[in-house]
Amino acid sequence: LAAEEFQRRLLNWFDLHGRHDLPWQSPRSAYRVWVSEIMLQQTQVTTVIPYFERFITRFPTIGDLANAPQDEVLHFWTGLGYYARARNLHKAAQVAVHEHSGELPCESVEALMALPGIGRSTAGAIIAQSTGQRAAILDGNVKRSLTRLHAIAGWPGKPAVERQLWSLAEYYTPETRLADFTQAMMDFGATLCKRSKPDCLVCPFDDVCRAYAQGEPQRFPESKPK
Ligand code: ADE
Repeated sequence: LAAEEFQRRLLNWFDLHGRHDLPWQSPRSAYRVWVSEIMLQQTQVTTVIPYFERFITRFPTIGDLANAPQDEVLHFWTGLGYYARARNLHKAAQVAVHEHSGELPCESVEALMALPGIGRSTAGAIIAQSTGQRAAILDGNVKRSLTRLHAIAGWPGKPAVERQLWSLAEYYTPETRLADFTQAMMDFGATLCKRSKPDCLVCPFDDVCRAYAQGEPQRFPESKPK
């Protein structure tokens, strides 16, 4: 599928069915997007929203977060789980204050990945949503959609499969509307191209999806071999 056609169909779907009222979408800042992406790494959007609001009210800037005691940061994380995320967020805020003049280093994926808790996909999500620069993402939802669209066999955690998926993710990423495109990829995987019972009958890619053509789209992605 031509990249421009993929983008056109996905963004048209997003305009009609995507999430446009998430608290980190307005006002949008690198700090707010970063906090949201860390919370969303292992937790669903509806759970994250009230935690995000309380966290940002208590720690409105990176400086406020960096200066807070760790036990207070963990207190605002209580119930979200995976507490290493909160400790890394706190540590990264201190690195931003001491080494980047109190800002997140959003000039490149590599600079963001140097901070604790930020992998390649999270770095791409932060850059695309907060600066509008072209950066690809590849989280679990995006992996699932792309393995289905292309009927890619093998477990997506396998390095050769993951390389192929990153290459597709980069290929489909547009030059414009980066924030919308990024949110659209997440929303598409989470709400339409779901793990079980994907809504193929209303999918904008029904005529080009190779997993759908094969008849059992939920067979993709394959699970981890034992
Ligand atoms: N998972 C990770 N980032 C997300 C986002 N911005 N929206 C929905 N789910 C996500």
